[in-house]
This record gives sequence, C-alpha cells and structure tokens, in this order.
Amino acid sequence: MNTPIPMVMFSARRYDRDSFDAALGEVADQVAIRYVDTRLTTDTAALAAGSPVVCAFVNDDLGEPVLDRLAAGGTTCVALRSAGYNHIDLAAASRLGITVVRVPAYSPNAVAEHTLALILALNRHIPRAHARVRDGNFSLDGLVGFDLAGKTATVVGTGQIGAIVARLLWHLRCRVLAVDPSHDAHLLDLGIEYVDLAPGLAEAHIVSLNCPLTPHTRHLINADAVATLRPGMMLVNTGRGALIDTAAVVEGLKSRRIGSLALDVYEEEDELFFEDRSTEVLGDDTFARLLTFPNVLITAHQAFLTHEALSAIATTTLSNVVDVISGRPCPNLVSQS
Ligand code: NAI
Repeated sequence: MNTPIPMVMFSARRYDRDSFDAALGEVADQVAIRYVDTRLTTDTAALAAGSPVVCAFVNDDLGEPVLDRLAAGGTTCVALRSAGYNHIDLAAASRLGITVVRVPAYSPNAVAEHTLALILALNRHIPRAHARVRDGNFSLDGLVGFDLAGKTATVVGTGQIGAIVARLLWHLRCRVLAVDPSHDAHLLDLGIEYVDLAPGLAEAHIVSLNCPLTPHTRHLINADAVATLRPGMMLVNTGRGALIDTAAVVEGLKSRRIGSLALDVYEEEDELFFEDRSTEVLGDDTFARLLTFPNVLITAHQAFLTHEALSAIATTTLSNVVDVISGRPCPNLVSQS
C-alpha cells in the first residue's frame, strides 16, 4: 500500500473541492489533497511546508520569493490548475528544482462561450434590462444594440479558444478577421481572413483578445492602439488583464473611441478577484472608474467556470501530479526540475 503524496491546494473554492474530490477516485492512494482557501503569497507559503506538491491557481503568487519559501519547505512540484503560466517565475522554479505542470486545455468551449455571452449581453444591455424589469421599469430607452450579422469582428489569437470564438462569430454571420502568427486551416476554410494587428484593430466593430500574455502581447491595446480603433467599437478581453493598458482603455471609453468594453480579466485582478469584497472600500481607482461606465460589463475571471471545465482541470491536474511523482514523462510539463 502506497503512502499518498501530500498536495496542498491554495485558493481552493467549494467548486474546486467538489471537482477534485470527484476526480481523486483511482489515485486516492497516490495523492492526498489538503485544501487551503487562502491565496498563495509569501505570508501563506509556510502552509505548504512538508508538501512535495503545491497546486495553484491564476491568482496565486508564484514569484521568486514565494517559490524560495516553497522550496525551503520541501516542495518539488507546482501543479498549475490553469492553462496560462505567465504568473509563475519559471527561471526561479528551475533554479530551485521545482517541476511545473499545467492544464493546457480543459474546455476551450467554456471560455469561448463566455466570450460570446459577454458580447451578446453587452451589446443588448442584458444586465441593465434585467435590473430594470426587476424594478418594474419597462422602458426601452438606452437599450439599443446592433445586429452582429454583417459586422466585422477581429479575434486576436486563434488558438484553442480564439478559434472557437472566431467560429461562433462566423456562425452569427459576422465578417471575421483573425490575427495570429500561426494560421488555423479550419478558419481559412470558412473564409476567415488572417490580417496584421493594425488593420485587424482599425476595421473591427468588435475585437476579442484571446492570445496569451507574453512580453510581446503585454499592453497590446495601449494608447497608440486605442487611437487606431474604429470609433464606437466593442473591446472584449477574456485572455489576460495585462493584454490591455487599462488606463488607456479608460481614456478610450471617455473619448467614445471605445463604444463598449467587456472584461473577464483585469490587470490588477490578483488583489480583487475570487473574494467577496462587497463590504470593503475599493482601493483600486482604475477599477472603480471602470465600474462607473454604463457601457462596461465585467465578470471576475469566470470564463472557465463550467462543470465540464472543472472536471477536466481536476482530472488533468491529478494525472500530471501522478506522472511527476512516479517519474513518468508528463505531457503537460511547463518546466522540468
Ligand atoms: P493557445 O495556446 O491554444 O492559443 C493562443 C494563440 O495565441 C496561439 O495560436 C498563438 O499563436 C497566438 N498568439 C501568440 N502571440 C500572439 C500575438 N502577439 N498576436 C496574436 N496571436 C498570438 O491558448 P488558448 O487555450 O486558446 O488560451 C488563450 C489564452 O486564454 C490563455 O493564454 C489564457 O491567458 C486565456 N485563458 C483565459 C481563461 C479565463 O477564464 N478567462 C481560461 C483559460 C485561458
């Protein structure tokens, strides 16, 4: 009988516990999960002492000081339960002998469908309309949207998620433009055209950001880019917050260059999202400003949140961990110790 390897899971919410408990099944003799609901930070890293495996989410701090503490406590594997890995210092992990694994794809449909939900809800003012009806206000003033059919929509990043976003918009009879150094054959078959970023931004009524955050894509939408957007366009970001320079986008909203904005991610979301802060005073003035616009729709990094995605995240994460602890090759390695 094996002794299960301890794994501490930070930022563990109810839905994480449910999906991981359900997926543990066959590997329960190999991995023992301790759920911790707090974020991983320099202050909380000590909670993982003695645990070879740490499981982290996108809001956890995986910078060098945290990794130093984890390594000192005996952690040799960080299992990211996310696709993105821009939040971990890979050089530090490598130096400290920490193997990093991730879940490259759990449900691209979940994120793509949420992207479409944001576009439709923002365009047709669904949150405002619902609030009005609940309040007994049946006026339609201020609720005018536009037909998506015939509009130009640019998808920046046509990987697993963006390709589905592009297809969904194509099915809604948009003229879809794609921006990506690598071209998706199925999208080309549909007649979707790959263009450079500049025309992709200039021509679009809707721009959806679905590329990863890298040094190259950081602040892809900055003040210069905002100046080139089609006046009144809709900007949608379900990728990573820092793809847009939020201050520049706020100016774009004020000048009406950006007609509407939907976000599922925010540059400084680490200090905000995934917690109930409804009784707190909001300290982030840029975010507070965003909330004042009637034409801004924000969800708090929930695009991934479907039953199917949670189940796939749990299954793949546990399989990654078992591969690493048993010395088997893991297909989802980000970096090897
Ligand atoms: P992927 O790796 O399948 O596709 C990314 C695509 O972006 C690739 O085709 C790549 O060539 C392209 N790309 C890279 N640099 C680019 C650039 N400068 N301009 C245009 N395209 C560029 O990744 P996937 O699975 O489609 O995910 C995309 C991003 O979505 C992730 O990196 C992550 O940040 C975000 N995401 C957000 C979630 C949420 O809940 N809001 C959940 C999961 C992922």
